[in-house]
Amino acid sequence: MSRTPWWQSAVGYQVYPRSFCDSNGDGVGDIPGIVSKLDHLADLGIGFVWLSPVYASPMADNGYDISDYDAIAPVFGTMDDMDRLIAEARARDIGIVMDLVVNHTSDEHAWFQAARSSLVDPKRDWYIWRDPDSDGGPPDDQQSVFGGPAWTLDPVSGQYYFHLFNRKQPDLNWENPEVRAEIWAMMNRWFDRGIAGFRMDVIDLIGKDIDAEITTNGPHLHDYIQEMHRETLAGRDVVTVGEAWSAGPDDALLYTGRDRGELSMVFQFSHVLQGWDPEFGKWRARPRDLVGLKRLFNAWQLALAEDGWNSLFWSNHDLPRAVSKYGDDSPAWRRRSARALATVLHLMKGTPYIYQGEEIGMTNTAFARVEDFDDVEIRTNFPIQTARGLGADAFLAGANANGRDNARTPMQWDARAHAGFTSGTPWLPVNPTFDKINAAADRADPEGVFRHYKALISLRNKLDIVIDGRFVPLAEDDPNVWAYVRELGTRRLTMVANLTSAPVAFSIPTEGAVTGTCLITTATPRDRLRGKLDLAPWEAVAVLGTT
Ligand code: GLC
Repeated sequence: MSRTPWWQSAVGYQVYPRSFCDSNGDGVGDIPGIVSKLDHLADLGIGFVWLSPVYASPMADNGYDISDYDAIAPVFGTMDDMDRLIAEARARDIGIVMDLVVNHTSDEHAWFQAARSSLVDPKRDWYIWRDPDSDGGPPDDQQSVFGGPAWTLDPVSGQYYFHLFNRKQPDLNWENPEVRAEIWAMMNRWFDRGIAGFRMDVIDLIGKDIDAEITTNGPHLHDYIQEMHRETLAGRDVVTVGEAWSAGPDDALLYTGRDRGELSMVFQFSHVLQGWDPEFGKWRARPRDLVGLKRLFNAWQLALAEDGWNSLFWSNHDLPRAVSKYGDDSPAWRRRSARALATVLHLMKGTPYIYQGEEIGMTNTAFARVEDFDDVEIRTNFPIQTARGLGADAFLAGANANGRDNARTPMQWDARAHAGFTSGTPWLPVNPTFDKINAAADRADPEGVFRHYKALISLRNKLDIVIDGRFVPLAEDDPNVWAYVRELGTRRLTMVANLTSAPVAFSIPTEGAVTGTCLITTATPRDRLRGKLDLAPWEAVAVLGTT
């Protein structure tokens, strides 16, 4: 019997519940809507769903501001709906992975309400309070990730509370052992309901030392995660994936090393950050740097080759659409470039994640005005970045290229009004492309993206070389082609992809040469990858043979 953990051979799929499927016509996706689409996911072949937050929340950050961890937001449904989702998913061999948002709560959580009620409330210390500076201003200059000061004055007590995100998202004081015990108990209650694991929101921020102004990778981080493991994860066959924007490969080994007793894997973002501007971050668009991207992915593959485990993703609810960011979303190449990007990612070593809509090649939306965006991050940053010198048009271009609302427009199911997402008015307008780009059309299309993702997932299910094979990068400096080899015993799998919209000539290095069976292709099948190749635009092909 194989000892591979199930989450190393499974593919994850992220559902952003607000935008997935609305069952009751209020314009907001909900849990019964997700249940109604489980067959789409089962057909794709995924092993688990990462469900963005569905807990009770005033929705200042679309659910990443939780007011009750043990209740479901009415807009998403009821706890009975949640139990039904877990059971119906399980019946299709799909685990439900909840989003654990515990760096902060909502300011409307009962804990914060109690904490703010008086200086001597027993829960006062569950959050982070400091006296004003001598001039009455914030205690220091720390900034929130969404822009603006990380401190907000609480007029009742005259103290400031700390929030790394919006002012409605006060940070919990992880140094208080009661806080940690409460979180462990909550996690255990969810495990007892039958969930398959947790995606851990901004987990690299929980070990902070506020007064030293250390927020990421703080001194207590790994102690807390190890304590979490002992108190909740140990002995359970679950998957955990920590969101860690700050993680480099060495950090990832600390989080995911076999004997560390921490997490299954982390989401690492070096490839995302590489696409941002050094001065204005995501708010100034930057062209794709293919060689840079390959270098980063290759480095992660090699660093975690013997220990630890990689997650693999192009997109999520905070990022632009993969085909628009890394592919070519023009009508001529959208489908093929989406399939090529999938091929490159899914045949690497690690657990791939698909963001809803990626499997049908959904694209970014063009927002005409800053006011058209819903996202709190975009709205907060517009005045800040323009005051720093970024022109309003440049900001709009940046928000269109990298902003979070690209991923949040409703899922495009079919060509009916509002893409079949809702019978009401969607909370964020549907991308106008929906008449052409939608799940029904894509699934019926021989050149469709869905069937390619499905084929990639079934290769992973069938072939241990996709899961366990040693990764060898090829031609890292080639400006057009992404290529690598996976090897297991005497078998060799070579993947070659032209990631441009023009034909290119490519010579396979001898360590990648292979003759055998074509596993998958976005163009004409080949059973030989050897010597000189003429690759069609966005041709991605994988051949399995022997060394
Ligand atoms: C993470 C989430 C993001 C959220 C933030 C605060 O980065 O992915 O959507 O806004 O944490 O919880």
